Amino acid sequence: MVQETSLEVRDLIWPLFVIDGQNERQAVKTMPGVDRLTVDLAVDAAKQARDLGIPALALFPNTPSDRRSENGEESFNPDNLMCRALSAIKDAVPDIGLIADVALDPYTTHGHDGLLDGERILNDETIDVLIKQSLNQVRAGADIIAPSDMMDGRIGAIREALDNEGHENTILLSYAAKYASAFYGPFRDAVGSGSRLKGDKKTYQLEPFNREEGLREVEQDILEAADWIMVKPGMPYLDMVREIKSRFEVPVFAYQVSGEYAQIMFAAQAGALDQRGAMIESLISFKRAGCSGILTYFALEMAKELNG
Ligand code: PBG
Repeated sequence: MVQETSLEVRDLIWPLFVIDGQNERQAVKTMPGVDRLTVDLAVDAAKQARDLGIPALALFPNTPSDRRSENGEESFNPDNLMCRALSAIKDAVPDIGLIADVALDPYTTHGHDGLLDGERILNDETIDVLIKQSLNQVRAGADIIAPSDMMDGRIGAIREALDNEGHENTILLSYAAKYASAFYGPFRDAVGSGSRLKGDKKTYQLEPFNREEGLREVEQDILEAADWIMVKPGMPYLDMVREIKSRFEVPVFAYQVSGEYAQIMFAAQAGALDQRGAMIESLISFKRAGCSGILTYFALEMAKELNG
């Protein structure tokens, strides 16, 4: 029989949560098997990933409470946790790609991705801060900037600011098709934004009923110079992956998000399904749909599996 697609280590991108401190790991209770790591341990994890052939990491900071604020100024502090993690990993493991998320939720006291006026998100004012955050992260060592905030017009604005500073080679991975999802719950716990979040993100993230709207967002971001497109969540939105792949000539990535990971892990712990089998099958489904890469909390385990 003919196997039409394959799953390889180079398809896997590993998200890591970082915390302040030294030589400490904290279990994320809603994500069995996932720990938040201090920067030194994140460096060790990066070495392990590189040795297994994982091409890139996506970093997310759990910003200490006293560094969070209404307007998320910590996001452009050159000495913030994220920047310290980026530069430590870049120094120690220069050959692994570093993806830096762009959005304010790990830095704001209200847990939203942008600036607020009451309950209203301020699109254009937010973009100014996202530009500062992007430049800050690129200067610290990020190779790929991944705006996940869903503000309108941010891709073009960030591209221009990066180019003006000589960062023409920085890749923009746009979370263009990002749906307002219940599957982000464990992530918000991991970065510490969940308990702070007031309301929901439905005014800026996509409505799960909508396909054409997602495709319009993708088209817009490509026109604004996005290099790659991200679909998120992953498995419930594989139709979007396939459709973007056939409509646009752009690499498509998907994020198997925290809730998708938790679903498999807790079901396996309860004896309801085989963890290894479900992991492998879920990751194959992304490749079959047309993904060029998959952000997955299974990256390390799957890479070990593939390395035999
Ligand atoms: C926020 C962001 C989220 C995720 C990545 N970046 C959550 C959200 O939009 O609330 C979710 C990833 C996951 O669930 O694993 N900018």
